[in-house]
Amino acid sequence: RRGLATSLLGKDYPRDDWTNVTPAITSKLPLRLHTLPDHPLSTLRSLIEQHFADFSHLSSVSPLVTPATNFDELGFAPDHPGRAPTDSYYVNRGLMLRTHTSAHEVEVFRAGHDRWLLTADVYRRDEIDGSHYPVFHQVEGARVWDAGLNGMREVAEDNEARRAALAAENIIIEDVPHVAPTNPAQSTHDPAHAALVAENLKLSLNGMILKLFGHAAGATKAEPLRVRWIEAYFPFTSPSFEVEVFFRGKWLEILGSGVVQQLTLDNAGVPHKIGWAFGLGLERIAMILFSIPDIRLFWSQDPRFLRQFAQGQLTSFQPYSRYPACTKDVSFWVPQGASLHDNDFCDVVRDVAGDMVEDVKKTGRTSLCFRVNYRSMDRCIIVKRGGLVLHSQVVSRLKEQFAVEIR
Ligand code: PHE
Repeated sequence: RRGLATSLLGKDYPRDDWTNVTPAITSKLPLRLHTLPDHPLSTLRSLIEQHFADFSHLSSVSPLVTPATNFDELGFAPDHPGRAPTDSYYVNRGLMLRTHTSAHEVEVFRAGHDRWLLTADVYRRDEIDGSHYPVFHQVEGARVWDAGLNGMREVAEDNEARRAALAAENIIIEDVPHVAPTNPAQSTHDPAHAALVAENLKLSLNGMILKLFGHAAGATKAEPLRVRWIEAYFPFTSPSFEVEVFFRGKWLEILGSGVVQQLTLDNAGVPHKIGWAFGLGLERIAMILFSIPDIRLFWSQDPRFLRQFAQGQLTSFQPYSRYPACTKDVSFWVPQGASLHDNDFCDVVRDVAGDMVEDVKKTGRTSLCFRVNYRSMDRCIIVKRGGLVLHSQVVSRLKEQFAVEIR
């Protein structure tokens, strides 16, 4: 198939030795679930947009980006594992499907947006199970100010107002320092300014999380919503944080965030700005808020799924009939000197069976294969009805003595 063209969103692209997009994946590009009216992903997007009402709301940026845009401009190391064709989808060496919405930070800042949200489909190669899908949706959000004293005064005032509003709410926040030796301000930033911006990030997102989960969790005086901030690392933010929400007895990681690396703002032509950015995955949150048990359901065209949801409404999904599972094992020899990545196997399965597959697991059992060479020095060996008697006896013995199961 090398050399032929891949058709994506109405244009043809040449293939080369890096091409690994399959028809199962490319067929998802036009679907844009986050923009479908009544779809749970679209409702969740609007809830987030309502919380950031005075931000620009973008949602129609093409998923085709260069590796430079997806990785280099954001400061990813040249050997970062995410770049490998086993982890990301490439149209060819020079073009890939974005792996995260952060890929658009530079162009959105460059277009002059100071506060914005961008919702989009993102693509990552992964194994097959109920909570992973090679296409999912992220919301990227960012806010920047002039790095001068006026800008910093504005941040401080905004923090003051947000702190007062949150103080009245039933939310318990486990925090980490805004800036720490293990999670430092950038060398070009006054640590006090970085701390103000990080605090603004936390206050803005705590408010959003309360809006999304407070209601669903039924946060009360007796049982407030619990949120915890954790130090993190991303190549394109410093300091960086992850956020977890305590929901139905478990800590659920919902987003990554931090103070935007100056490299991003320099690349965008706004070097005098300072600000924060976050990125969150919609599916994991929607699965919780709408009680959706399997990530494939978001792609369902079945009216029994779609008619359960109306734009803006946080309804709980009612499961409809489930068919019995049908599992099949496959074992095989890999050609001498070759190897086969788990994701390569999964993309073959996906391309053939699409959403008819619930998950793919390594069996976790030990399989042994011995090749026995029967040859006598002085007599011929008897084969009966196509079977070698001696070998049948060996096999029977194995079953008796070791309770092995013959494959
Ligand atoms: N792009 C990151 C991810 O996909 C999330 C992120 C966005 C982190 C913005 C920091 C700032 O995991």
